[in-house]
Amino acid sequence: MAIQWGYHFVTGLRNIDRQHESLVALVNKLDATVANNALPREIEGAFQELANYAREHFALEEQLMAEAGLDGDFVAAHKQAHSAFVDQLTAMWQTRAEDADGTIKHLLEFLTTWIYRHILITDHEMARDYYRRKGLTAPPSLLLTTSAPR
Ligand SMILES: [Fe+2]
Ligand SMILES: [Fe+2]
Repeated sequence: MAIQWGYHFVTGLRNIDRQHESLVALVNKLDATVANNALPREIEGAFQELANYAREHFALEEQLMAEAGLDGDFVAAHKQAHSAFVDQLTAMWQTRAEDADGTIKHLLEFLTTWIYRHILITDHEMARDYYRRKGLTAPPSLLLTTSAPR
């Protein structure tokens, strides 16, 4: 279940968009290693690359939110979403059965869906608040998605 990068993901925050595009590429790389029945160490390499990149990316977003002075409740919920994702992903990876194809596919499904929804809902909400506070006009891609429920 590869993710197709497209304009609908764009936040207009250049560093964030660049990282999201890389993140999506890493998800697709892991997806391809699993689909091609790659060696366990190759799957592990692709997984670790993705997990490390995701952690770096979350740190960048959290720094941006702090610097831009975004809404405190939103920032707390957003950080919580990042750390819950990392915790769940780590737990799923550690408990996967080496020989059970099903568990890695389940993990892939979880992370693909999470990243897709997180960018479109939570990260877009972050970008909307960013533009609001700076008095800037948000790019049209942010009008395609609606505000995240608080
Ligand atoms: Fe993000
Ligand atoms: Fe985020």
